[in-house]
Amino acid sequence: MQCDFFLGATSLILDGDASILSLQQVCINGEEISGDTKMQVEQDKLTIHNVTEPAEIRITTRFNAKENTELAGLYKSGDNFCTQCEAEGFRRITYFPDRPDVMSTYTTTIHADREKFPVMLSNGNLVSKQKVSSKDSSMHSATWHDPWPKPSYLFALVAGNLTATRDTFCTQSGKNVDLVIWTDPHNAHLTAHAMYSLQRAMKWDEDRFGLEYDLDLFNIVAVDDFNMGAMENKSLNVFNSRLVLASPDTATDLSYEQIESVVGHEYFHNWTGNRITCRDWFQLSLKEGLTVFRDQEFTMDLHSRPVARINDVRNLRSRQFAEDKSGMSHPVRPISYEKIDNFYTATIYEKGAEVIRMYYTLLGKEKFRKAIDLYFERHDGQACTTDDFFAVMSEVSSVPLDGFERWYTQAGTPVLKASSEYLKDTQQLRLSLQQVLPTPPEAHPVEHMGPQFIPVSTGLLDDNGNDLPLTSYSYQEDSGQTITTTVDQGTTTAVLPFKAFSGEFLINNVPQKPAAVSLLRDFSAPVVLHYNQTAEELQHLAKHDSNPFNRYESTQKLARLAISASYYQESNHATTFNEALATTHGNALEREDNSKTVTKLDPAAVAQMLSLPSIEELGPLLIQDITDSPKDPLLDPLLLNGVRTQAIQTTAEAIENDLLQTFNATTEALHQLEYEPHGVQTGLRSLKGQIINRLVALDEHKHANRAHAMFETATNMTERMMALTALSHSTSNYRTDALDQFYQRWRTEQLNVIAWLGVQARSEVVNNVSKVRALLSHESFDMRTPNKVYALIGGFSTSPANFHAADGSGYEFLADSVLAVDQINPQVSARLLGPFTTANNYQPLYRDGMVQQLLRLERASLSGNASEIVGKALRFV
Ligand code: ARG
Ligand code: ZN
Repeated sequence: MQCDFFLGATSLILDGDASILSLQQVCINGEEISGDTKMQVEQDKLTIHNVTEPAEIRITTRFNAKENTELAGLYKSGDNFCTQCEAEGFRRITYFPDRPDVMSTYTTTIHADREKFPVMLSNGNLVSKQKVSSKDSSMHSATWHDPWPKPSYLFALVAGNLTATRDTFCTQSGKNVDLVIWTDPHNAHLTAHAMYSLQRAMKWDEDRFGLEYDLDLFNIVAVDDFNMGAMENKSLNVFNSRLVLASPDTATDLSYEQIESVVGHEYFHNWTGNRITCRDWFQLSLKEGLTVFRDQEFTMDLHSRPVARINDVRNLRSRQFAEDKSGMSHPVRPISYEKIDNFYTATIYEKGAEVIRMYYTLLGKEKFRKAIDLYFERHDGQACTTDDFFAVMSEVSSVPLDGFERWYTQAGTPVLKASSEYLKDTQQLRLSLQQVLPTPPEAHPVEHMGPQFIPVSTGLLDDNGNDLPLTSYSYQEDSGQTITTTVDQGTTTAVLPFKAFSGEFLINNVPQKPAAVSLLRDFSAPVVLHYNQTAEELQHLAKHDSNPFNRYESTQKLARLAISASYYQESNHATTFNEALATTHGNALEREDNSKTVTKLDPAAVAQMLSLPSIEELGPLLIQDITDSPKDPLLDPLLLNGVRTQAIQTTAEAIENDLLQTFNATTEALHQLEYEPHGVQTGLRSLKGQIINRLVALDEHKHANRAHAMFETATNMTERMMALTALSHSTSNYRTDALDQFYQRWRTEQLNVIAWLGVQARSEVVNNVSKVRALLSHESFDMRTPNKVYALIGGFSTSPANFHAADGSGYEFLADSVLAVDQINPQVSARLLGPFTTANNYQPLYRDGMVQQLLRLERASLSGNASEIVGKALRFV
């Protein structure tokens, strides 16, 4: 506890939020205290003077949960009560040392109206339930006790009219755990997938990490009003209902996948987060980075490893790399913050997971497991730091990890520059590497930026596309000494430990000049790779690389080069790379002769190869990846978007027949199958979705009817939404018809309505802003429901054509919306502001438009959450 010395005696300082709490009574050892000499209540704390330990302190507070629209603390979602305490919600329930290193055991008694709140839950085990509460005869009560000490942010309480779906799990040591998923009664039939996901997660954590569940009961509660995805409260996880509820008609394949992954994520927190928690919030990535890594591995072990890896890297690049180039850039272990809620970022989560993955790559699977075992042996029950985690990894690693710790302290994406040369005389391949670090943001000064430890997974391909066997590599240290490392026999990928600003690796015993070098396999480090490769080399890699990630990456690089060449009006290059890209896409669609499969390669992987990098991904990469000295480092988002659309069209045109053939083949193949949200059919659907998008983008007059037919004949939400998405960017009447049909049919399903709002918001049709404004007053929209706000307002900001509209109408819409949402829920308005934080990356026309709105927001009296983001966005322009 946070104790102070005051006039020779001890003062106890407790956190509390007076904007919601009204303090009723404070008793010490049974005696009520009052008056300024005994205690002081301020806006954010309660100070109690002259407390001698040990003491029993009893605090009574009142607050109105119904008016708690911030959805932090105890609040109402629909007719039910629930809590969200991470990071600082507990202080909105009562006065308390609300910090993660204060770990206590909790006993919770809930009194509530018997009829309205038949279900009353809290952490741990149910100790007793009273049919008539001691407080009031119309009430009943329940007492829960959690034997595991925990920080206040893991406290939870739920009361409502909820229906249970029950199952069990038998742990590896033979203990039976009761599993319950609580939902509104009308949604109880939608929980099967979440329950199955939970059972698989429990089994996986035992198999992969030897970690067993430590109580007899595990609850998940689905609520419709939730700021984020879900919350790992001890034995009482609270979830955004979109990450629990699923049926083929209400959830897409992607939602099914996310449910499995988030159910896993929250469950995995029981060890990485709850049993070992964070000393303070600067260490947030200790639990989040590690738990994201664990949920990523869970998905990879259950499904296709390369497909999952590609999705994770796409997500990292489009969100985290963009964050690194924004006013919100911060290290994995931040140096300062105003509102910790603003730091649940892609850097803490996704880059944090990449940092863990680099340990994993460097230590190898077995040693990594050994190090994790040591982490629990040493730190179970403690509140720890990322330094503690680093120490454990370093101790077990056979590779010295010097320089690795800078991944935690230095912000920004390093650029890795590589060049290679074949040395015929000595039969070596020389790989020269250089790392360039970004200038640290003003808010996070680093006195001395040192080189970061970059593991560079490398392979060599011969002319036939086979991997060349590797034997050893040499590296010249600064001291002049050359160290030669032998690699395991039969290895075709070497992890080169690059930890200097510049250096040279010599790969030995290379009998012939490799046809291509495959660098950064599996994206072995979160860096921007700058390596000159010809269209031929990239095509060779796209076709033959034994590393599926790099097959994908080579097509992406062709796309980036094609788009960049058009963007900078280098028409010769543009033609070369567009042609190479079309050929590569055509190759990816190839099907085996005499075979029933739609494509030779995994259709999910083909869909990924066919997809072009998103605008969010292109922005930061375009500047750094393509050329050493960009012509103009400031982006024109409309031009970039136009050029990207053109690339989609040009390549689609070149392979239109292949696309149509594959479209029909996927339709036929899917027709034979009963819907399941996993296996090869999900790949077939993503390929079909990718193709219909390309076709409608190519020529809507010719192909919109095909999308409309796909919409009308769809037997599941996935295909329905894919068709609707393709149509949403067209101006044809098919678009309005499909949207109307969808709403009429699914208006009573909340998740479908949210998807319907989102697909309209993201539309690229020009002047869509008026349509989106109109939807703000549609009967289905509610500014108090975060899912709806994220779908409509957040969705709008992802449409480059409309968000960046040259007349500034998109920026104005976002600012208007932020002002309205901020009155209701500051955590949500702060998240909506994200797109403005990249203002600095754009040409003056766009940047000034954003700045104008940011200044307007700055003049308004915003919440602390929103003003931190506005301030950071402005400081950076
Ligand atoms: N710990 C939760 C998770 O990652 C996220 C909770 C964040 N909530 C917040 N209000 N910032 O699973
Ligand atoms: Zn988490």
